[in-house]
Amino acid sequence: MKLLSIESSCDETAAAVVEDGRRVLSSVVASQVEEHKKYGGVVPEIASRRHCENINGVVEKALSDANVSLDDIDGIAVTHAPGLIGALLVGVNFAKGLSFATGLPLIPVHHLRSHIASNYIAHAELEPPFICLVVSGGHSHIVEVTDYTDMRIIGRTRDDAAGEAFDKAARTMGMPYPGGIHLDKCAEGGDPLSFKLPHPRVDGAPYDFSFSGLKTSVINLIHNAEQKGQKLSVEDLSASFRKAVTDCLIENFINAANDLGYSRLVMAGGVSANSLLRRRLKEECEKRGWEYYYPPVELCGDNGAMVGAQGYYEFLAGNTAGMELNARATMNIETAYSHLLQIP
Ligand code: KG4
Ligand code: ZN
Repeated sequence: MKLLSIESSCDETAAAVVEDGRRVLSSVVASQVEEHKKYGGVVPEIASRRHCENINGVVEKALSDANVSLDDIDGIAVTHAPGLIGALLVGVNFAKGLSFATGLPLIPVHHLRSHIASNYIAHAELEPPFICLVVSGGHSHIVEVTDYTDMRIIGRTRDDAAGEAFDKAARTMGMPYPGGIHLDKCAEGGDPLSFKLPHPRVDGAPYDFSFSGLKTSVINLIHNAEQKGQKLSVEDLSASFRKAVTDCLIENFINAANDLGYSRLVMAGGVSANSLLRRRLKEECEKRGWEYYYPPVELCGDNGAMVGAQGYYEFLAGNTAGMELNARATMNIETAYSHLLQIP
C-alpha cells in the first residue's frame, strides 16, 4: 500500500511517498528555518504563509521523486494535530482537497505518533510493544506503545519541553534558532562538571519532568556574569546544561522501563538527535542487555516519511477521516481519531 503523506505542523513543509509503512520511496522537506531565525523563533503567521506557497511544489516533487502519479497512490496521510493551528490547516486542507478529488482515503496522523513511527522506517525489525521517550520542541513524554496505534502516557513535562529548554538556554548563550543543535555541538568541547545545575524532580510523579527551573538557572548564571563583567565559557555551560537535561530524561526513562518491565527502549522527536542523549541511552541499555532504538538524525526532525509510516498503521486500525477532518492545536497522543469522532 502506497501512501502520500503530508506534514505542516510547524516550520517544515514536507511530503513523502511511503510503502507499507516502512519503505520510503521519496521524502521532500522544505525548511523555513532561515526565515524564522531572524525572529529567534517560529512566527506562526509566516509559517502558515510559507506552507501555502510551498505545499504544491513539495507534494509534486514527492510524487515525481517516487516516480509515481496519484493513480498509483492508495491513501493520503496528513498530520492533523498537535501543532500551530494555521500551519496544520494548510496541510489538512490540501490533503482534504486531494482526497475529495481522487476519492482516496484520508488518514489523520498525530504528530507525536508519527515521530515514534520514524523508527519503523529505520529499524525493519522494530515492533511494539516498547516504551518510548518522545522529546521534541513542544513535548516531552514517556509513552508505553502497546501496539502501533495503542499508547499510554506514563510521564510528561510539567512545564517546558526538552527542546524548548535547549532552545531557550542556547538563545541566552547567543546561539541562532533553533539552538538545540548548536548547543549540542558546543557542548562537545566543554566540561559537563564545570557548573552545578539543579536536577529537578516532580514530587509524587517519578516519571514526570520539569525543565523550566533548569533553564532559568542557566539564564541567571549568564545574566549575573554579565552584570559583573565576567565572561562564562559557553562550551562549559552548554556541556553542563546538556548533561543536566540528559540526566533527567535518561533517569526517568530507565526507571520507567525497569518498573514497568520493558527491555525494548525507543527514542523519537527532534531532541533524540542529541548526541549525549543517544550515547547515554546506548550505555544504559548495553549495561542491562536491553534493546534500544532511535532514528537516524535525518529522521529525528519533522518530515513527511514518518507521517506515511504511522499513517499506514492508522489505516489498518480503521482510523480514517471524511471531509469533517479539522486541525487541532492540541491533542493527546493516546486518542485515536475514531475516538475523537464519538465526542460531540
Ligand atoms: O520534533 P521537532 O523537529 O519539532 C517539534 O515537533 O517540535 O523538534 C525540534 C526540537 C527543537 O527544539 C530543536 O532545538 C531540538 O528539537 N533539537 C535538538 C537537537 N536537534 C534538534 N535538541 C538538542 N540536541 C540536538 N542535537
Ligand atoms: Zn516534531
